[in-house]
Amino acid sequence: MDFLELAQSRWSVRNYDARPVEQEKLDRILEAARLAPTGANRQPQRLYVLRSEEALARLRAATRMAFNAPLVIVACAKVDEAWHNERETVMRGTTCDTYNVAEMDASIVCDHMQLAATEVGLGTLWVRGYDTQSILDAFEFPEGIVPMCILDVGYPAPEAKPSRLHEDRKPLSQTVVEW
Ligand SMILES: Cc1cc2nc3c(=O)[nH]c(=O)nc-3n(C[C@H](O)[C@H](O)[C@H](O)COP(=O)(O)O)c2cc1C
Repeated sequence: MDFLELAQSRWSVRNYDARPVEQEKLDRILEAARLAPTGANRQPQRLYVLRSEEALARLRAATRMAFNAPLVIVACAKVDEAWHNERETVMRGTTCDTYNVAEMDASIVCDHMQLAATEVGLGTLWVRGYDTQSILDAFEFPEGIVPMCILDVGYPAPEAKPSRLHEDRKPLSQTVVEW
């Protein structure tokens, strides 16, 4: 599969089959995460793989966005470990006073994992529509570890299909500026 075919074949899955994710597929997804670039190569990502009934139940009590995925990866970052440009002034005075690249790093890692999962026939859902405090309350993450996004992973249920948003992409003329 070439890259654009892979990118096109990914869609957000919100209904999963009970079939578990094979260990070798999970290993491949995690290797894709490991290979991801991060700012100054700090690698602040910490990936919590939830597969047990107990862990998944705890997550589902904190957010409905885990749906019925048999495996969920909570992509966290050790925020203090991420690269921070001390000379950056543009973000100060906004909600990003403590700006560093932890969220970018976790996002790149998550994107690698999402596409690696797609390549091996799995469905995924990238989730950020949760309350961070609820996730922090649900799990005993070590100090300084902050959940950045969540990736639901599993085989799509036979009746699952892409939402209408999947086909809805702006033309490049609206998102690309050539100077
Ligand atoms: C940063 C980010 C956050 C998202 N958060 C959620 C979410 O909380 N819940 C959800 O159902 N989908 C979420 N999505 C999925 C998007 O809604 C979805 O990717 C978009 O509508 C395009 O549809 P497609 O993925 O099927 O192509 C998120 C996607 C991204 C990239």
